[in-house]
Amino acid sequence: MHCTKKIKDDLVWVGGNDRRLELFEGVYEVPEGISYNAYLLKDEKNVLFDTVDKAVSEVFFENLRHELKDGGLDYIIVQHMEPDHSATLAGAAEMYPSAKIVCSVRCAEFIKQFFDFELDSRLITVGEGDTLETGKHLLRFITAPMVHWPEVIVTYDEREKILFSADAFGIFGAQQGGIFADTVDFESECMDEARRYFANIVGKYGPQTAALLKKTAALEIRLICPLHGYVFRRDFDSLISKYMSWASYIPEQKGVLICYASVYGNTQNAAEAVAAQLAEMGVQTRIMDVSKSPASQIIAMSFKYSHLVFASVTYNSGAFVTMEAVLHDMAAHNLQNRTIAFIQNGTWAPGAEKSMKKILEGLKNCSFIEPSLTVKSALHDTDFAKVRDFAGAIYKTL
Ligand code: FEO
Repeated sequence: MHCTKKIKDDLVWVGGNDRRLELFEGVYEVPEGISYNAYLLKDEKNVLFDTVDKAVSEVFFENLRHELKDGGLDYIIVQHMEPDHSATLAGAAEMYPSAKIVCSVRCAEFIKQFFDFELDSRLITVGEGDTLETGKHLLRFITAPMVHWPEVIVTYDEREKILFSADAFGIFGAQQGGIFADTVDFESECMDEARRYFANIVGKYGPQTAALLKKTAALEIRLICPLHGYVFRRDFDSLISKYMSWASYIPEQKGVLICYASVYGNTQNAAEAVAAQLAEMGVQTRIMDVSKSPASQIIAMSFKYSHLVFASVTYNSGAFVTMEAVLHDMAAHNLQNRTIAFIQNGTWAPGAEKSMKKILEGLKNCSFIEPSLTVKSALHDTDFAKVRDFAGAIYKTL
């Protein structure tokens, strides 16, 4: 059966929710699933904004058939050609052969790379500021390269003040019934997943996202319709300022994220002891085991906290394998503006600090607290002052 969601009298969500997917893009845990949003604007000319992942193709096509009934589809706007939004494009194009495909020049290249259907005869390419009048609505296209592929455009409905924002403002997690963000407790139930989505999917492209946010800052906005998650109809200022801080790599929270890699528990003990000292000083702390917590959660928390402590056992003369992996991931996501400290443990030749620092030393505007805390096998009660001094050095920089 169809499952569409009304946004306005002439705007309806025709996407789908995948609650069985284990790993989005084969790498990101999605315990609450994910939504693939597509929107149908019913006007004198009917417009479809993007399609969906093949996992929800059945309900998507049913939704389209239900909403369009015997009517035709005039335009398919392809804002983003990544297959989670375009795997069903060829099917939609075939189902509505008179629909024009509207997209950027780069996107047209990508469509031809992915699909064999005949595109040129039905292609309309658009760039910055180009418009499309559909009857009551006037759609203006805004380029958003690298948010998060190079071909991306977002669309602004000039008359209804709706921003179709592509991946921007997307979140992990399937919808909980309603289409609007204010039908759930977004701050407590969704913000962590919004941050995790941003940090991992778009985080590397902060400057490009900030450029898009600056372009849209001048617009009056009444609705934001992203390609994942919910439609926003209020609280835009706090939402946009949150995204701007992530895109600018400005920490959201003064506090210390402590990530540890421990084989026999002694490095964990050092991490816990430092965290306890910091907490006694009134510092907000969070501890994560890099061998257990999903990397995407650690990356998301690194975008949240101002200070990062990495504690690793020495392994093959360097940092532990799971620590190295997460640090490379962090560096690849372009993290900036953090204060970083290290704890290393080694029984005969502690060498984890050097290896961890080497991975992170290229990050912009990051400072390193010296000296690191070195543990020889295990901490003892006689090491208490050393732990307290290390925590105190971090505290002084907060
Ligand atoms: Fe949701 Fe970049 O795709």
